Amino acid sequence: MMRAFTTALLAVIAAVTSAAPVEERDLVFDYIVVGSGAGGGPLASRLARANNTVLLIESGDDQGQNYNYSIPGFQASVTQDKQIAWDIFVNHYQDQSRAQRDPKYVPGKGILYPRAGTLGGCVSHNALIWITPHASDWDNIASITGDSSWSSSNMQQYLNKVYEWQPTGPTDPAILLKDNMLVQHLAGGAAVMGLGPDPLAAVTGLGQTLLVDPNNTPGRDSLEGFYQIPLIQRGGTRVSVRDFIVDTVNNGSPLTVRTNAHVTKINFDTTGATPKAIGVDFLDGPHLYRASPLSGAAGTPNTARARKEVIIAGGSYNTVQTLKLSGIGPQAELQSFGINVIKDAPGLGNNMQDRYEIPVNALHPNDFAILDGCTFDAKPHDKCFTQWQNNPSVLGLRGAYGSDGLAAAMAVNSDYADNSDIDLFIFGGPVNFTGYFPRWGDAAVASHKVFSWYTLKAHTRNTAGTVELRSTEPLDTPVINFNYFDTGTTANDADVKDVKALVQAIKMSREANQRYYNYPLAGTNWTEQRPGADVTSDADLEQFVKDQAWGHHACCTAKIGSTSDPSAVLDSEFRVIGVDGLRVVDASVFPRIPGVFIQSAIFMVSEKAADVILNG
Ligand SMILES: Cc1cc2nc3c(=O)[nH]c(=O)nc-3n(C[C@H](O)[C@H](O)[C@H](O)COP(=O)(O)OP(=O)(O)OC[C@H]3O[C@@H](n4cnc5c(N)ncnc54)[C@H](O)[C@@H]3O)c2cc1C
Ligand SMILES: *[C@@H]1O[C@H](CO)[C@@H](O)[C@H](O)[C@H]1NC(C)=O
Ligand SMILES: *[C@@H]1O[C@H](CO)[C@@H](O)[C@H](O)[C@H]1NC(C)=O
Ligand SMILES: *[C@@H]1O[C@H](CO)[C@@H](O)[C@H](O)[C@H]1NC(C)=O
Ligand SMILES: *[C@@H]1O[C@H](CO)[C@@H](O)[C@H](O)[C@H]1NC(C)=O
Repeated sequence: MMRAFTTALLAVIAAVTSAAPVEERDLVFDYIVVGSGAGGGPLASRLARANNTVLLIESGDDQGQNYNYSIPGFQASVTQDKQIAWDIFVNHYQDQSRAQRDPKYVPGKGILYPRAGTLGGCVSHNALIWITPHASDWDNIASITGDSSWSSSNMQQYLNKVYEWQPTGPTDPAILLKDNMLVQHLAGGAAVMGLGPDPLAAVTGLGQTLLVDPNNTPGRDSLEGFYQIPLIQRGGTRVSVRDFIVDTVNNGSPLTVRTNAHVTKINFDTTGATPKAIGVDFLDGPHLYRASPLSGAAGTPNTARARKEVIIAGGSYNTVQTLKLSGIGPQAELQSFGINVIKDAPGLGNNMQDRYEIPVNALHPNDFAILDGCTFDAKPHDKCFTQWQNNPSVLGLRGAYGSDGLAAAMAVNSDYADNSDIDLFIFGGPVNFTGYFPRWGDAAVASHKVFSWYTLKAHTRNTAGTVELRSTEPLDTPVINFNYFDTGTTANDADVKDVKALVQAIKMSREANQRYYNYPLAGTNWTEQRPGADVTSDADLEQFVKDQAWGHHACCTAKIGSTSDPSAVLDSEFRVIGVDGLRVVDASVFPRIPGVFIQSAIFMVSEKAADVILNG
């Protein structure tokens, strides 16, 4: 079925790209949406399903037939697939001597931050985890803007809309429970969260908690416990934004998807009192952006016009870059590059936020049984691939590759949280993940002997990240500074509280590992690789956190705010303040980083934007 969709999509793309050059220069649509990821994809689909002509411009191409896309177990490999990858390098610290303390640091470049240039954006290469936002995320936007349509009760309808196209489901618990070493670790996590203490009670408790859906349990925003992790999948195959776009084309809606096209500039009509966005310039050609390992070509210039609106959805880095290159952004920065200022927007590219994540990696003497025969390359010797391929659509039969490898999580409200919301999500699986560096995906699966607990710190307090132009060349990547911990937001001990919460999480991860160190069913034990058995004092653990934390939910670079806030970039209806016909709809729009995992919040924002645009 997926093949049929793709064939239809390719036919549409071919029809557009084979049009005569004269028509090429005269592409006119009701709406132009730039970027097909979590923000742009659902929105473009909704606008087209309501019979508007829509041009969806995507720098990458469709990789829906690529097993790296469709197999959840390949979530690490897919981020280093050259057809998909955008290897962006960022600074956690501007001081390079400090940055070098991270073993993931690449001299002269910084820290790898994987992004995807492909249909579906980062949703096509992410870890598939589906945790819906907290009510406080939305109520905060309602209170900042005075727009009650952002209240959590009103936002529920957009989650319902998302579920019209987004299937979700957890890893099949039966797969997990076949592996005694895995049970040993997960039961330890269950025990730390109060189930146990003897192994049998914890295993029984584990079985029960793995049935708890963390998105649909009453009071879940502050409900501590040990849960299954829902994924964006159907029957053990990744299904998401990319498939919604393809379905939209396939059902005859007037959606034109133009892949291999990189937008360089938004064009404005400046003859009226307020500048109005009327279209975009772009370059046709594959892998043009220099973050792609396949880049090098210059592309062919082209242009498209919008009768109604232009919507930018390039993600937190690229939306900022495209707007700045088009004359919207902090006046001094634009002028320093000789860019004609269309609208001074001092907040654009500031306020960037992310999670902090850290690992506890434990090396066993033996392999995890669940990974037997998994070579993670889809070649004939890859037994796990054969099992996945031979059992289409039946989650319970697909084996390890039907899962992203991250099975269950401790949900915790830390001692340093500002309110009762869960702010530590400590998830475990047989993956050797220590954060992002070149070829991290190979390192993550090379050994079958490593179990890791990863902590994701939600509701982080650091708002000091920035995205700035490196040059006026649209194919260059921007300069990205996160200004981690004490080099960022420090008011009210913001940095100290985030670090201490992460140290608490490391201690809980260690406690989970320690619970059943000599668990009789598994009959083996392990040594901690990271932070390492010698890293025990609070001071040393804090240093480990500061040196080695990472993130992958960058957001908030074009924030929605009150019209009286000079740092607000967007009004509560996604409109770029001071410009007509231009909106931003992606991870950039949030004033504060939402929830625990961000894609669900972006999907909801995308559905809300469609409603606002279509229904006023
Ligand atoms: C490795 C990794 C794992 C993750 N795992 C999870 C997870 O498990 N759960 C979760 O909730 N979130 C996860 N995330 C985060 C989530 O996937 C992203 O936050 C989300 O996809 C961002 O949505 P977006 O629309 O802002 O940008 P994107 O999804 O990045 O989409 C932007 C799109 O715009 C295109 N584009 C950009 N500039 C241009 C241009 N000038 N012209 C044309 N096209 C352009 C890009 O090619 C891209 O396709 C993960 C992220 C990463 C990197
Ligand atoms: C879209 O247009 C088609 C053909 O004109 C029509 O049949 C259909 O009902 C319209 N759909 C919507 C949602 O307006
Ligand atoms: C998947 O990505 C890896 C890189 O991690 C690459 O070597 C491999 O060829 C890709 N697989 C497919 C089926 O394209
Ligand atoms: C785990 O990954 C790290 C790099 O992140 C690597 O140094 C280490 O050797 C790996 N461990 C195993 C057992 O493969
Ligand atoms: C666990 O490891 C220790 C030290 O390496 C060893 O002495 C002990 O026998 C191991 N226990 C089991 C059950 O493997």
